[in-house]
Amino acid sequence: MSSIIEDLIARKVFNNRGEETIEVDVITTGGFGRASTPAGKSRGKTEVTYYPQGGVDQAVKKVDDLIAPELAGLNSDFQEEIDNTLHELDGTTDFKNIGGNTACAISLANAEAAANSHGLLLFQFLGGNAATTLPYPLGNCISGGEHARGKAPDIQEYLALPHGAETFLEAQTANTQIHRKIGDALKKKNSQFNGGKSDEGAWIANIDTVDAFDVIAKACEEVGNELDFECGFGIDVAASTLWRPKEEKYVYSCEGKKLDTSEQLEFMLELIEKYHLAYVEDPFNEEDFESFATLTRKAKNCLICGDDLFTTNTERLNNGIKINAGNAIIIKVNQIGTLSDAVQTIETAQRYGYDPVMSHRSGDTCDWHIAHLAVAYRCPLIKTGVVEGARIAKLNELIRIEHFLGNRAKMADLKIR
Ligand code: PGA
Ligand code: ZN
Repeated sequence: MSSIIEDLIARKVFNNRGEETIEVDVITTGGFGRASTPAGKSRGKTEVTYYPQGGVDQAVKKVDDLIAPELAGLNSDFQEEIDNTLHELDGTTDFKNIGGNTACAISLANAEAAANSHGLLLFQFLGGNAATTLPYPLGNCISGGEHARGKAPDIQEYLALPHGAETFLEAQTANTQIHRKIGDALKKKNSQFNGGKSDEGAWIANIDTVDAFDVIAKACEEVGNELDFECGFGIDVAASTLWRPKEEKYVYSCEGKKLDTSEQLEFMLELIEKYHLAYVEDPFNEEDFESFATLTRKAKNCLICGDDLFTTNTERLNNGIKINAGNAIIIKVNQIGTLSDAVQTIETAQRYGYDPVMSHRSGDTCDWHIAHLAVAYRCPLIKTGVVEGARIAKLNELIRIEHFLGNRAKMADLKIR
């Protein structure tokens, strides 16, 4: 079928926080694609700019007046050409003029339109016949830090990781049970607990940073025993949000403690050992590549992942690779702007033994593209919550992909190292 771009249609829609965001339709001579973009709350400093001055309204206008006429007539099959054109039209290094979210929505909608023009699902079009591997879901069960309002742990996310599951459906089943058990345990622990949840659908409770570890550890162990496979867990410290540069300390306000960099390193090592953490994201502030490298060297059987550290940026990842800072990287397309840029980062990561972790954002829509990207680009992990509409949209899409693949589907070869 023919995949020449005929038109782009942009509109303002809303994410799960009720914030304005952009949605773009790409219409080709033989197909159609639609994508909307997420938004972060604990953003990395080196992420691209989301919107031009004037916000989403101005972004929509740029699509109508500037971008749609330029892309019309191009072939949606050539993703890099489309993405390069977006860079050229923008003319800055961080998408200040057209907005990174504008670029991201167009880029993903274009990929889908191309796939649709060829009668293929997105993961098939992007990943080919060899794309048969499902990622393990990192499921956020307890929220803290900037993702909580009021009293909550200082660590931003406590994430279940059922790495013994043999299918994606089994893995997501485990995560839902762990999430439910944690809700029950929090209620038992504190009669004031009212079942509040964060944007990502994780529980928010007035519980100690360290107590939260005991709660999730117990739930993972119980569900692991019931389902008869290993359920581990990890954390996203989002340490840039705890870091006070003037004092050079990580401030845990819920605990009332302040740690300098070497104390933070000791604390992370202690947690990894005590709770057998399988995954630690952003344990240090986003400029401290050195401490990431030290922790990566010292930690055993644990993925050390950079989110704010790398912001899906190949150059920043290359800085990390030079000194072995981390062994995993969060991939958020809207941190960098286009699919081609994100793919370049994924491929660089894989070349140097870093595991790419495809990720949602705390403010998200029911857009499901990251489910397909995780399979297409063989990401061994996907981070997308456990419950809540925007998360379920992605998780159920992975269940559909697994179902579609039938006996060709297999789980990723996840090495916790
Ligand atoms: P976000 O944070 O609020 O920026 O999406 C999620 C994360 O830190 O992984
Ligand atoms: Zn993070």
